[in-house]
Amino acid sequence: MDQKTFYITTPIYYPSGKAHIGHSYCTVASDAIARYKRLQGYDVMFLTGTDEHGQKIELKAAEAGVTPKEYVDQIVAGFQDLWKLLNISNDRFIRTTDEYHVRAVQQIFKALYDKGEIYKGKYEGWYCTPCEAFWTETQLKDGKCPDCGREVKWAEEEAYFFRLSNYGDRILKLYEEHPEFIQPESRKNEMINFIKQGLGDLCVSRTSFTWGIPVDFDPKHVVYVWLDALTNYITAMGYGSGDDSDYQKYWPADVHFVGKEIVRFHTIIWPAMLMALDLPLPKQVYGHGWLLFGDGTKMSKSKGNVVDPMILCDRYGVDAIRYFLLREIPFGSDGVFTNEALISRINSDLANDLGNLLSRTTAMVQKYFGGTIPAEHEAGDPDGELVAMASALRGKCDAAIDSYQFSNALTEIWRLIARSNKYIDETMPWALGKDEAKKARLAAVLYDLCECLRIISILITPFMPETAPKIQRQLGAQADVLTYEAAAQWGLLPADAAITKGDTLFPRIDIDKEIEELNNLIPNPMEQKKEEKPHIEGLAQIGIDDFAKVELRVATIKACEPVKRAKKLLKLTLDDGEGERIVASGIAQWYKPEDLVGHSIVLVANLKPAKLCGVESQGMILAADASEDDVRVLFVDGIPAGSRIH
Ligand code: ME8
Ligand code: MG
Repeated sequence: MDQKTFYITTPIYYPSGKAHIGHSYCTVASDAIARYKRLQGYDVMFLTGTDEHGQKIELKAAEAGVTPKEYVDQIVAGFQDLWKLLNISNDRFIRTTDEYHVRAVQQIFKALYDKGEIYKGKYEGWYCTPCEAFWTETQLKDGKCPDCGREVKWAEEEAYFFRLSNYGDRILKLYEEHPEFIQPESRKNEMINFIKQGLGDLCVSRTSFTWGIPVDFDPKHVVYVWLDALTNYITAMGYGSGDDSDYQKYWPADVHFVGKEIVRFHTIIWPAMLMALDLPLPKQVYGHGWLLFGDGTKMSKSKGNVVDPMILCDRYGVDAIRYFLLREIPFGSDGVFTNEALISRINSDLANDLGNLLSRTTAMVQKYFGGTIPAEHEAGDPDGELVAMASALRGKCDAAIDSYQFSNALTEIWRLIARSNKYIDETMPWALGKDEAKKARLAAVLYDLCECLRIISILITPFMPETAPKIQRQLGAQADVLTYEAAAQWGLLPADAAITKGDTLFPRIDIDKEIEELNNLIPNPMEQKKEEKPHIEGLAQIGIDDFAKVELRVATIKACEPVKRAKKLLKLTLDDGEGERIVASGIAQWYKPEDLVGHSIVLVANLKPAKLCGVESQGMILAADASEDDVRVLFVDGIPAGSRIH
């Protein structure tokens, strides 16, 4: 029978800055699944890579005074070094600058064009001539170019578009027929709402920059990022090249792991592209959460508040970092990264629970039996409970891994570790060791502990690939008792196994001293904040009279409707206490009209009117950038319309 395949991918990362702990999070999670599936006997294909084209990288390279290719080569090498350090077992690494990918993308683009799925049209937006960049309404800063601060003008550019607008219904049907397609479940509604607001066609080529894959039949165009990026999942398997045997073997992917901010691209645009190509769809897209700093902001390259995973691995070992990332945060949720949480996990779970279990057990086998446990065992209490728990552990891990709940799998494993430590306290081997007549009972106790450690060592392998063999060597366990099958069987460690006490797995860390040293290495954003209080970097201070020029008032939203010509805009009809006024606001991506009507908001009441995509806007409403990809309107419900804010 053919071996079952399992194909898993990470996003391909932008090499616009150094790889950081956020990228490591998704890659480590994918690696744990790849390893678990291999353990289970699957023929696994694990793909990661880098997404190297686009204007941003072109600009970064220009700033650095090198060519885009030179720029990405250097950063990509850093990504690859980090994956090696983190023991990432990817089978392939795709770079979108790889020749085979470039050719395959050109072929896909042409095929879609020939089918009428891609057509030539016009791209409209606010254009900054010196920067050669288009900006959307919401990207502008004070109506000016967010990069250089100069005037922008409304402009059009010839561009190719993909007929995404044709696919809304088919994608909704996909979600209905395959409820498992978007995970976690909670991310699905957001996608459904997005589609129901109406999908526009997607711009898939640009002429305003050159760092991209040329459209071969119209070479002043380069392919615009998402078509180039998403197709990596099939081109890496040889789709569109001479040899597509791996594509035949592994596609469709079993799961794409992606951060929550790009679920939309993977669950709307990607299936639509595949439908247009008449290709099978991936079985699942899993949107994981974000790693946040203690102050709730996302770690990202653009913020510069980046924890360097190389430094952490160097200080605590790779497996401690892998363990922490997978254990601390339920996959799918956001989680906060703090040095304190990392160190306390290392001390309690790794040094105390696991490390002590191993060192106490092996030390006692040495002390009482010279390293080999006698074959004669006398059963007793509570052996049965321990054996039952250990034998059931693999099933529990399998179930957790089936739904990508790493923290649950690790919690189950650590439950057996805790139970084993308790078993030592209950059976008191040091007391048994004093009594010659209890040798057989002592042998049974120590053998049971070694068996638990054997099973634990197998099941932690996918998560902690360096630690598992260290345990196995100390137990004298050979490959035949370390298989996936062996993890569900009790009593496999042979009687003559040579058990030795080895090095400490995880030394305990003096938390106070360590935090102090660490804070010197890794800037703590909270403390930086404190120091920065008197001013915000890059912003000039203003006097109270400057502020007084801005007239802020409470207004109530009476009506709200989308703006036809601008997907991002909503047209709001406000009661400002004196009468009605119209305001256009670039919040359509985050709010539906019915979310807004009836609420009170903060209005900048003395802003010069401006025409936005055909709407005469008389003011603006205040909203906060809650995260990189989340805008929240400031609601002030309960305060009467017209109230002055000062
Ligand atoms: O979006 N917490 O690339 P990207 C958790 N090239 N995960 C994080 C994270 C954080 N703070 N920061 C980054 C792109 N990630 C596109 C993808 S796919 C065809 C193209 C992880 O470099 C997370 O998985 O911005 C996120 O989705 C990915 O890095 C984005 O990497
Ligand atoms: Mg990003």
